[in-house]
Amino acid sequence: MLILKEVLKSFTEPDGSPLPILDVPEFHVAPSEQMVLVGQSGCGKTTLLHIISGISRPDSGKVRVNDWDITLMTEPECDRFRAEHIGYVFQTFNLLRGFSALENVMLSMRFTGRKVDKQRARHLLERVGLGHRTAHKPTQLSVGEQQRVAVARALANRPKLLLADEPTANVDAGHQQQILDLLRETCREEKVSLVLVTHSAEVAGQFDRVERLEEFNRVGRKNPPTAH
Ligand SMILES: Nc1ncnc2c1ncn2[C@@H]1O[C@H](COP(=O)(O)OP(=O)(O)OP(=O)(O)O)[C@@H](O)[C@H]1O
Ligand SMILES: [Mg+2]
Repeated sequence: MLILKEVLKSFTEPDGSPLPILDVPEFHVAPSEQMVLVGQSGCGKTTLLHIISGISRPDSGKVRVNDWDITLMTEPECDRFRAEHIGYVFQTFNLLRGFSALENVMLSMRFTGRKVDKQRARHLLERVGLGHRTAHKPTQLSVGEQQRVAVARALANRPKLLLADEPTANVDAGHQQQILDLLRETCREEKVSLVLVTHSAEVAGQFDRVERLEEFNRVGRKNPPTAH
């Protein structure tokens, strides 16, 4: 389902010098596999998810999703591919401010050209406990509620790959489990591969496969975390 090979990514320091973030020789996720990615803050987890989803491009290397090399696509092709195949729970939610919770979930269905499935949108919002907040806009929702809308939206299009960047970081323990159960059950039922980033040992402990980015990222190995 997902194969990365020899992926390099650098940013630029404010003084203009290069800032290497990722040097990943290999990273695989099998069809329907559910795995967790952990690593200290700033080690490159979100950067890796951006590269897997084509939101940002690697400096070099291959990124194959569902047998397509997304690094070879043009930007519009990549946007379309993402809308059709990839669900993404953004760490900062990225909800559209002018639209209600229900509209946010339904709008992502528009980008694929498939029929908008209002019933599924409603059902997903109910599954994250927001059946009573579907008409609220993001500014009228609590932070944890916005995060739950983001989770519902990521599942809206029946993706084949789901990338969830700390999807439970802003909610209480009860909602944490509710979100995890929804993500994992939906991925199991609809044969979706799941890559979930978390800082929570309680969340990570529920998965069979937990990978630490610093361990398969050569940049992380060159700059080991400092002891606290
Ligand atoms: N546009 C950018 N320009 C320069 N440096 C950047 C840029 N974007 C990210 N970085 C740096 O890249 C590193 C990795 O960032 P990233 O967001 O991937 O970390 P993360 O592992 O997701 O951290 P967290 O757990 O805090 O979310 C950080 O040290 C950050 O300062
Ligand atoms: Mg991050």
